[in-house]
Amino acid sequence: MCGIVGYTGCKKAAPILMKGLQKLEYRGYDSAGIAVGRDHKIDVIKKEGKLDKLKEKLKSSMLEGKTGIGHTRWATHGRPSDRNSHPHFDEKQQFIVVHNGIIENYQELKEELKNKGYQFSSETDTEVIPHLLSEYYNGDLRDAILKVVEKLVGSYALAVMYSREPERIFAVRQDSPLVVGRGAEGENYIASDIPAFLEFTDDFYILDDGEIAEVSAGEINIFNSSGQQINKDIFEVDWDAEMAEKNGYSHYMLKEIHEQPDALRKIMKNRVSPGKIDLTEIAFPERIDDIQIVACGTASYAGRVGKYVLEELTRIPVQVNIASEFRYSDPILGENTLVIVVSQSGETADTLAGLRLAQKKGARVLALTNVVGSSIDREADQVLYLRAGPEIAVASTKAYSAMVTSFYMLGLFLGKQEGIISESKGKEMLQNLLCLPELASRVIEENEKTVKHLADRFQNCEHAFFIGRNTDYSLALEGALKLKEISYIHAEAYAAGELKHGTLALVEEGVPVVAIATRKGILDKMMSNIKEVKARGAEVIAVTYSDVKNVAEEADYIINIPEIEGIFSGVLTIIPLQLMAYYTALKRGCNVDQPRNLAKSVTVE
Ligand code: M6R
Repeated sequence: MCGIVGYTGCKKAAPILMKGLQKLEYRGYDSAGIAVGRDHKIDVIKKEGKLDKLKEKLKSSMLEGKTGIGHTRWATHGRPSDRNSHPHFDEKQQFIVVHNGIIENYQELKEELKNKGYQFSSETDTEVIPHLLSEYYNGDLRDAILKVVEKLVGSYALAVMYSREPERIFAVRQDSPLVVGRGAEGENYIASDIPAFLEFTDDFYILDDGEIAEVSAGEINIFNSSGQQINKDIFEVDWDAEMAEKNGYSHYMLKEIHEQPDALRKIMKNRVSPGKIDLTEIAFPERIDDIQIVACGTASYAGRVGKYVLEELTRIPVQVNIASEFRYSDPILGENTLVIVVSQSGETADTLAGLRLAQKKGARVLALTNVVGSSIDREADQVLYLRAGPEIAVASTKAYSAMVTSFYMLGLFLGKQEGIISESKGKEMLQNLLCLPELASRVIEENEKTVKHLADRFQNCEHAFFIGRNTDYSLALEGALKLKEISYIHAEAYAAGELKHGTLALVEEGVPVVAIATRKGILDKMMSNIKEVKARGAEVIAVTYSDVKNVAEEADYIINIPEIEGIFSGVLTIIPLQLMAYYTALKRGCNVDQPRNLAKSVTVE
């Protein structure tokens, strides 16, 4: 949802800004631009399209300044074009702004400004900001920014520069992420997300809503919304720059799929050991009557697996809510309701709003998130970190597996605490959990060839169906999402027993149906559903265990996963489906890491 960067120091700003933008390109990639200050003047270069186009344009320009800001855009107001790209100037070209978020009252502000004679040169909501700065500036830029943000309704992370003070950047946020990096002596940074400048620093200030940072090469000063200077703790990041690189893989997505065994090891480290699960890092409420899971996209599909897992292991009723619906509903949350918000980025606007609504209604919120220091991390009552390391590809893979694994851990911990899981059963289940990293490696090794073949076979199909029952249905939803978001093939997931109530009409000769059959108690039922689609000409790709002979006999293609206790099959099942989506997208010539119309971190509604 747009990435913003800023640099001020002793080096030429443009190449450093471009490096930062490259790391943030996953946040938006329909246009980009940078502004660099020098000699009471700000030079701006912007270009529609991916960052490479801006890079090309930069070759013929002389941007010498040592302070600058940059932006990579995911369009909300105004289609992608040079004109709508950020940064945006006021009319006199004195104030320049990059923005991530949405100014909800921009129409009203634009009208007011137009009536005062201001002329607009873009269709964006952002452009009201530089004009407002020009209106309110009275010798002190910080003061002007504070006045302007008071007028704004919506979400924003802003970086602002002024041509008469071209060596300073101001940064301010409300409901959109923003960090300030403290670099080596005489160099400082700002960014929407930490990976932008991990190459240069591990030390970041994470701005809170309403705070404003004044950043120059020599110092960083942070103020609250009343303009008083405040002291903030430095947040030291333990991710290194390499973790945010492709490390020889052709795409981040492929790298992140391969990182899953390691991600599983990390999430369980010091939490799961033979015979013991320790989640004492979380202060659970004494009594939990019900659990509400709130999340978006892949995180919500992980939540759907979580529902089955938690209900089976704890016997506590669980409901899964799509955050964008939950936030505008009137949920019934008791004082003994535990709300679990799930978010890789920790910045998804709808999930954050769901968290705030739950807290307002008196519920306790536990967050499962990957990004330490994110808004969700800071606002939740309790946090279980996913520890998956930076996830850069827009299609989530390793974070999903970590989310599902956290539900296994929560289920086992609470199930034991509630007295639902016996000592011996608990030990057996922990053993299953501990085997997952090893088994995940095996799944990758053993299936890459098969899924490449399947990608070859089905690359030209227009529709695909994914079916399953129980947790396998939740996995079908995630498998279908992976295929559609990166390969643009229309993929539908159905609870296998539901197909015959309408959707079966769409199954015809040659349509691929991915049938997930790992829940042993209901395999016969899956067999009937496989037969139903086969009878209509579908080509069935079954994901199952090698000893499930009847499914293997009926299916056209088989993806085998290692045998594991039913509830724990989720992580192993999803890996071949991620790989299948990846190789299909590759065959179709799609941009795997940056699919069209999408962005990694959805910080707007
Ligand atoms: O950062 P979050 O986990 O909150 O993101 C939620 C969704 O936007 C995200 O999972 C999205 O569905 C992915 N593109 C799926 O691969």
